[in-house]
Amino acid sequence: MQDQKIRPNRHAGRPRPGKGVEWLHDPVFSKGTAFSEAERDALGLRGLLPPHIHTMEEQVMRVMANFHSKPNDLERYVQLVSLQDRNETLFYRVVMEHLEEMLPIIYTPTVGRACQEYGYIFRRSRGFYISSQDQGRVKQILRNWPTRDVRVIVVTDGERILGLGDLGASGMGIPVGKLALYTACAGIHPTQCLPVMIDVGTDNESLLNDPLYTGLRQRRARGEEYDALIEEFMVAVRKTFPGVLIQFEDFGNRNAFRLLARYRNRACTFNDDIQGTGAVALAGVLSALQLTGGHIRDQRVLLFGAGEAGMGIADNITAFLSEEGLSPAEARKRCWFVDSKGLIVKCREQLTEHKARYAHEHAPCPDLITAVQALKPTILIGVSGVAKSFNQEVVQAMAGFNKRPVLFALSNPTSKAECTAEEAYTWTEGRAVFASGSPFAPVNIAGQTLVPGQGNNAYIFPGIGLGVVCTGARRVTDVMFIKAARTLASLVREDELAQGRVYPALTRIHEVSLAIAVAVAEEVYAAKLTNQPRPNDLAGYIHSQMFRPDYPDYAAKA
Ligand code: NAI
Repeated sequence: MQDQKIRPNRHAGRPRPGKGVEWLHDPVFSKGTAFSEAERDALGLRGLLPPHIHTMEEQVMRVMANFHSKPNDLERYVQLVSLQDRNETLFYRVVMEHLEEMLPIIYTPTVGRACQEYGYIFRRSRGFYISSQDQGRVKQILRNWPTRDVRVIVVTDGERILGLGDLGASGMGIPVGKLALYTACAGIHPTQCLPVMIDVGTDNESLLNDPLYTGLRQRRARGEEYDALIEEFMVAVRKTFPGVLIQFEDFGNRNAFRLLARYRNRACTFNDDIQGTGAVALAGVLSALQLTGGHIRDQRVLLFGAGEAGMGIADNITAFLSEEGLSPAEARKRCWFVDSKGLIVKCREQLTEHKARYAHEHAPCPDLITAVQALKPTILIGVSGVAKSFNQEVVQAMAGFNKRPVLFALSNPTSKAECTAEEAYTWTEGRAVFASGSPFAPVNIAGQTLVPGQGNNAYIFPGIGLGVVCTGARRVTDVMFIKAARTLASLVREDELAQGRVYPALTRIHEVSLAIAVAVAEEVYAAKLTNQPRPNDLAGYIHSQMFRPDYPDYAAKA
């Protein structure tokens, strides 16, 4: 078969602006002061711009100078979002060229702060809002979105924003940020991305009383009313944007598991908090074992926090072990949980179905330290949202019976981390293999610089999305996440491991996303999840589809 030559439509069906000032005010088309002489003539821009033409490199220099002059990260967030609103191409050039510096601003931890302050920093609406008041007309209002070529949606109802709880409509910062990562990390075209907030109200009292809050003034709709709105949304988006990939993000766990179960076999959808986190943590565990020298079959994994992230991680480890030849029951025995009531054991009453699968025969332990002392885990993973819960006693207990204790403090944002990188390394004399959810700076200990891994889902979901979009896959399957985790772990280099990193440097994210997309695409063809033919050069084809933040020559096309 001849390889497809189709490049995604650069502007995804979005009509070109008319003449003059419209070009400057459309963020998809604007180049700001970089419009050339020929473009200024052809597009009616003479006089509307200062005479000097800047190169994109000079524009990046200006943005970075402003960025570094801001007094704090929230101001940097506001600056970047404003740039995204003015000139999307320049925004992505800046973010892609300075990814390590930008990621903590456009995503965790700063995005958390931005969501908490959303009503105050709000300038221009971004994304699409569907509220309880839109019941019965969701399909109709979706037509207000300016393009039809939408390939990826990230949707939230704002009930569990990072580890910060219910932020209602202020949670819109999360889908906006996640989709920026789809573009920055995997080259999904920005105009093919749609952030969605489903506003069913909030139970956050202070937001309800805040005059600047942007969402509905009502308590959360639940039960049938809630389910009907989600169902209407799922039907309407797939009719409006056929084949679209829908990522569920930061839903409360009472809805997240249910909705995943309901839609995973009906739509092209996944839940990043469950499945994406599962894959990124599994990859971290596989890399950590390269440092500790053990086999995954011989590990005892203790998860602190039995919610979406914890269950996703345990399910991915279990699925991986099953692929390695263990029965599902044997595989599950490697994973233990501590929740707010202590160790999850068989004799505990009223366990949810998810927790019951990981309830093993053992005497109850009331808290984390008792469970650690009793079980002697080789790997301890925090996904509880409880800051500082890996205290000195817990960490030193882990270091007491493990030569190299594996400690992942994955709760976000930084303020919720179970422990800091410095604490993990100091309390274990540098023996810990550490990863966190939000970034921590390298730590010098005993003359050695240790670089903590960031278990950022951005290593996984953009590559999965790229693989799905490029193949036109009908479904997102669990196997794809295991393949993504294996691929991610396989990309960690010796020199990175030597620094204590369990993930590749973020600067390698494009290589990572492409490799994951190829692995996912292979699975799509193998499992017959698409009707599209397989290109001969799969990696070359996927690479050719990735967005690059360059300015087109509009004069040539005018
Ligand atoms: P969730 O709300 O589904 O689960 C939180 C769990 O922690 C619940 O089971 C709850 O019972 C438990 N918990 C609360 N207080 C506790 C206590 N005192 N002791 C023990 N357990 C307690 O939330 P989800 O989605 O599982 O997220 C949890 C945390 O993990 C959040 O901070 C989130 O930001 C973080 N996370 C990190 C990711 C990453 O780094 N890649 C990805 C997804 C989530």
